[in-house]
Amino acid sequence: MNQKSLAGKVVLITGASSGIGKATALEFSRYGASLVLVSKNLQKLTEVENKVNQAGVRALTIRCDMTNRSDVRNMIQQTMETFKQLDVAVCNAGIYFRKLAIDQTIDEIRDVMETNYFGTLNCIYEILPLFLAEKTGHIVVTSSLDGKKGLPHDSAYSASKAALTGFLESLRQELQHTSIKISTVFPGRTNTPMIQNISLPNQRLIVSPEKVAKSIVKTVLDKKTEVLVPYFSSKLYVLINSISPRMGDSMSRILKLGGGRCRAKQSVMQRYWRNATSVDLLP
Ligand SMILES: NC(=O)c1ccc[n+]([C@@H]2O[C@H](COP(=O)([O-])OP(=O)(O)OC[C@H]3O[C@@H](n4cnc5c(N)ncnc54)[C@H](OP(=O)(O)O)[C@@H]3O)[C@@H](O)[C@H]2O)c1
Repeated sequence: MNQKSLAGKVVLITGASSGIGKATALEFSRYGASLVLVSKNLQKLTEVENKVNQAGVRALTIRCDMTNRSDVRNMIQQTMETFKQLDVAVCNAGIYFRKLAIDQTIDEIRDVMETNYFGTLNCIYEILPLFLAEKTGHIVVTSSLDGKKGLPHDSAYSASKAALTGFLESLRQELQHTSIKISTVFPGRTNTPMIQNISLPNQRLIVSPEKVAKSIVKTVLDKKTEVLVPYFSSKLYVLINSISPRMGDSMSRILKLGGGRCRAKQSVMQRYWRNATSVDLLP
């Protein structure tokens, strides 16, 4: 496909105020697509809007909390009122949460699921009826390599992304007889504000948001199904893990993918179990 192929298309991007979403908006603007930029922060979105306007592209900014279903419904209504069409939706908004599994609360895990899993589904369930009526459309979801293989400290985050992976695999097959395309992008650690506070000893494994953005646009242009970024190292990692999860664990430990030492200082739960008497443990 040539550079002109997205002119006249309308692309909605959630989480467009920062990191991968912002880079994706700028990348789509090079292909001439009109953009709907969505996040909770209108001020940051306006900065992105100004940049894409400089590329001669029309953009609409919408403040929307993906966990709020009426916000999401309103986002789609505003998009349709303004552009009268929607061709591509990049469901990219997400949060990162980092704690040892043993230290986190069920409520914390639920919060991560609410944004990363149900927030994405809120978006998909508003868009799908539209695409089904139009008999066309493309939904791209930013998952994570964590959605293929869990890492230490990332249990809640990995679970939210793995849930998306499973859901999207089912949906994709259910829609196979239609012209609606479902794609999942699995970036490895990406240099965005999301991971700025994690110490990652293996800096060579960190990809740029621009590289992920290029892969997302290519996913749309080439109608790809699943895309790993970076490709070769991630493919090898996923392949080795599928053959031997124990080897996958070793790889993630040797490459320090979980970010430095994974054994925590004594966790809250460890302290609890150590101090608990056998009587405490009886039902
Ligand atoms: N960075 C990585 O290492 C990495 C690796 C793999 C996958 N990913 C995934 O890539 C996606 C983008 O992350 P990023 O790295 O670009 O992080 P980021 O710079 O922190 O951007 C996250 C974006 O999501 C938006 N967002 C968060 N919660 C939202 C909500 N409830 N409603 C609406 N928007 C919300 C944020 O917007 P506001 O705060 O303005 O609302 C922001 O625009 C996420 O799904 C993330 O899980 C990231």
